[in-house]
Amino acid sequence: MNILKIIQMKGKEPITVVTAYDYFSAKVCERVGIDMILVGDSLGNVVLGYESTLNVEMEDMERHIQAVRRGAPNSFIIGDMPFMSYQTSDDEGMRNAGRLMKAGSNCVKVEGGLRVVPLVKKLVDSGIPVIGHIGLTPQSVNQIGGYRIQGKGKDADRMIVAAKSLEEAGIFSLVIELTIEETARAITESLLIPTIGIGAGRYCDGQVLVWHDLLGINDGKISKFVKKYANLNSEIEKALSDYVKDVKGHMFPEENHVFKEDK
Ligand code: KIV
Repeated sequence: MNILKIIQMKGKEPITVVTAYDYFSAKVCERVGIDMILVGDSLGNVVLGYESTLNVEMEDMERHIQAVRRGAPNSFIIGDMPFMSYQTSDDEGMRNAGRLMKAGSNCVKVEGGLRVVPLVKKLVDSGIPVIGHIGLTPQSVNQIGGYRIQGKGKDADRMIVAAKSLEEAGIFSLVIELTIEETARAITESLLIPTIGIGAGRYCDGQVLVWHDLLGINDGKISKFVKKYANLNSEIEKALSDYVKDVKGHMFPEENHVFKEDK
């Protein structure tokens, strides 16, 4: 996969994206043929146990991108730029994007609209492919008044202008998060590059879900836009309870699990 193939998929074939944070999950993504793997800063919530993505550091992203690259050597990997790795200055953003590319990603993702346009231009000019991210942008959760649905009323115009400016700046794809379907559709129809929706309805060019949500590993509240394709939380809980019961009850290990002197 490469950015030209991703762009060509628009209007022809829906694009699949899923988050992955480690070697094992990356291996599975590559095996089943996921189009793009996102090492998202949702790492902070679902793997590191933070309340938001704000605590994620560059070193966290580098470590997990490296692990995902080892698991998926042939896949297209998106490296998410963490909070405060590009907001302080474009130079800082350029340096940090370079670090994620060296860690093994094929492109970087930055959150924001018009504010990030100058940075996007510089990154693209320097040979780093960029995915934009508008709608609900979790790194700005304190600025936008919480995890609220975006794109209603006049906000739709603002989002369309942002999307078009990002496209002109050179992004090759755009994530639209938690946005009403009508606005995500209007954005999708107004761009030549593909949109990837998460909670943005049926008319985006592709979809992205978080690994833990898709597989039912979270025990917290699940958003309406998530489709759970498995309920691994209860499977894992049952397996671990059975293990505890077996060890406590001297039922594990059994004869077939032990090593003995050769006869
Ligand atoms: O970090 C992440 O998982 C993301 C997705 C929600 C798009 O940015």
